[in-house]
Amino acid sequence: MSDLHNRHVYQPNPEFAKNARIKNMDEYHALQNKAIEDYEGFWADAAKEKIDWIEPFTNVMDESNFPFVKWFDGGKLNVSYQCIDRHLKTRGEKTAILFEGDRGDVVKITYNELSRNVNKFANLLKEDFGVKKGDRVVVYMPMIPEAAYAMLACARIGAIHSIVFGGFSSESLKDRIEDAQAKLVITADGAYRKEKPYLLKPVVDAALEGETPVEKVLVVERNNEEVTWVEGRDCSYHELIKDKSDVCAPEVMESEDPLFLLYTSGSTGKPKGVQHNSAGYILWAQMTTEWVFDVKEEDVFWCTADVGWITGHTYIVYGPLAMGATTVMFEGVITYPDAGRPWKMVQDHKINQFYTAPTAIRVLHKMGDHEPSNYDTSSLKVLGTVGEPIDPPAWQWYYNEVGQGKCAIVDTYWQTETGGHVISPLPGATPIKPACATLPLPGIMAEIIDEKGNTPELGEKGLLCITRPWPAMIRGVWGDPERFVKAYFGDVTKNGKPVYFTGDGAVYDKDGYITVTGRTDDVINVSGHRMGTAEVEAAILKHENVAEVAVVGKPHNLKGEGIFAYIVLKEGEVTNEAKEINEIIKKEIGSIALCDDMVFIPGLPKTRSGKIMRRILRSIAKCEAITQDISTLEDPSVVAKIEAIVAK
Ligand code: WT7
Repeated sequence: MSDLHNRHVYQPNPEFAKNARIKNMDEYHALQNKAIEDYEGFWADAAKEKIDWIEPFTNVMDESNFPFVKWFDGGKLNVSYQCIDRHLKTRGEKTAILFEGDRGDVVKITYNELSRNVNKFANLLKEDFGVKKGDRVVVYMPMIPEAAYAMLACARIGAIHSIVFGGFSSESLKDRIEDAQAKLVITADGAYRKEKPYLLKPVVDAALEGETPVEKVLVVERNNEEVTWVEGRDCSYHELIKDKSDVCAPEVMESEDPLFLLYTSGSTGKPKGVQHNSAGYILWAQMTTEWVFDVKEEDVFWCTADVGWITGHTYIVYGPLAMGATTVMFEGVITYPDAGRPWKMVQDHKINQFYTAPTAIRVLHKMGDHEPSNYDTSSLKVLGTVGEPIDPPAWQWYYNEVGQGKCAIVDTYWQTETGGHVISPLPGATPIKPACATLPLPGIMAEIIDEKGNTPELGEKGLLCITRPWPAMIRGVWGDPERFVKAYFGDVTKNGKPVYFTGDGAVYDKDGYITVTGRTDDVINVSGHRMGTAEVEAAILKHENVAEVAVVGKPHNLKGEGIFAYIVLKEGEVTNEAKEINEIIKKEIGSIALCDDMVFIPGLPKTRSGKIMRRILRSIAKCEAITQDISTLEDPSVVAKIEAIVAK
């Protein structure tokens, strides 16, 4: 971070800025100052302008029960109405979802078609499965339009969806189903990846073995591969949808009625069900899509995430559809058949905004330095990145090769818990610096402070916090209010009052720009996906010959961070353990949690009170010299032994 204060500054493209929603820094500051001076007024105006209310709200924010906060009380709305119905008059024949399949098959779904499909789907959920307002529905789907229909159909009838990323294993799926007590699972037989079918249904079958709250499984046929069918439980979407009416009145929802749960890893225990509620979430999803990507009426917007992550929720489905945009949904792998795939898609569909993760940028760069120039990518205006701190070389390649030096890069910092972006450049206003998320968005009171709420010295790392509740803030951890309070509001106070701590470290530069430096807790960021060390450790401990384990993150040139496991065996020489442990991880969590490094050591570095010194393990994994004092360890000699094993 030595050059933190002297990074090159890139001004917004003046042509672009002319027509941008926020055109310059004066406009940015005017908005942010309005929020600072009249916080509730700022949000009330936004909510009145953006949301099609069935009944207006009577109260803007109620924080009397902080951190349990209510927004827009008294208001009634329906999120699917916001995303579909209100556009039908003016945009009925506009493409809502532009789907490109793995094998290059393209389907354009208009807002009219989206409406019919979602209404039918909603009627199916009600009539065939008796799904009611407040019921939890687990969605385990590939990247096909039916995934979006399922989400919006739930929203239409007031059911709470909980999407589980298709890469998670049957055990992970089982845990999430049980925690949410879901009565229905929506899945697909499978989908296509690199032109080959892969299957999802068998994972669902395994997850439902034994006792389960699930009564029915709805199976969307995508690749018509043969899958097991459990009579009386499994139902064919294509059969049931046929005779459904395409009219289903939207359920009238309160502002604070839950919209969805999304499970994410924390530093301890099992993944927690992050709860987002209707009005605040959809408001911010829409506002940030408009501001940060500056999507215009005729634009085509592509976010490469999977709907199984928050990025897919907010920026494939809810944000773009709430504003009436055309959103691209891609089934395949962006490096298949070659590293030109995304640039070919940009050319074919005249994509204007492209949003992906640093890990994808690094892989695309490595595979095809000049690949973008083989295609006509002149439609691009805004390039986005999300999920982990981007490194300057990846940023430079993105800016110069992909953006041809004329596109703004929006390094968007946010989390599952924040619902939408919280720190990001505005493409027509903010002068950007490589690998820097820059400034809080208007309305977001993000600050770098220490545990007591003081601002650190310039250039010193601090804790990234949000000091006032915002509409799209996490509303709770499903079924565990105590964990919600402890996980997010237990570490940092300002003026003696608890504030939301993101779990990330960050630093200000001389211009007040925020650079996010990464997690300060035991969470590893693998390819932009959050993994809790505790979860990976729990999986490894299931191996019968494992006595102890500690997992840390280690810098990885493509993934950002890789998983490094230190394992102490109960007895004997190491034989097949590494392979067996990987099998267990695959079964317990999924391939995304496989270890990049696994070392078998005689003992872990622990303090006399038994606490594992992970900092030492992190240093050893990076092959760094140990600078911390190891004399307090119960057995300091273990450090040299571990170093010798890792060095091998
Ligand atoms: C964590 C949240 C938000 C959607 C994808 C991940 C890291 C996210 C950035 C960024 C530096 C970032 C943080 C955060 N992160 N965006 N632009 N710069 N770090 O969502 O799984 O909830 O993970 O991702 O560490 O806490 P998530």
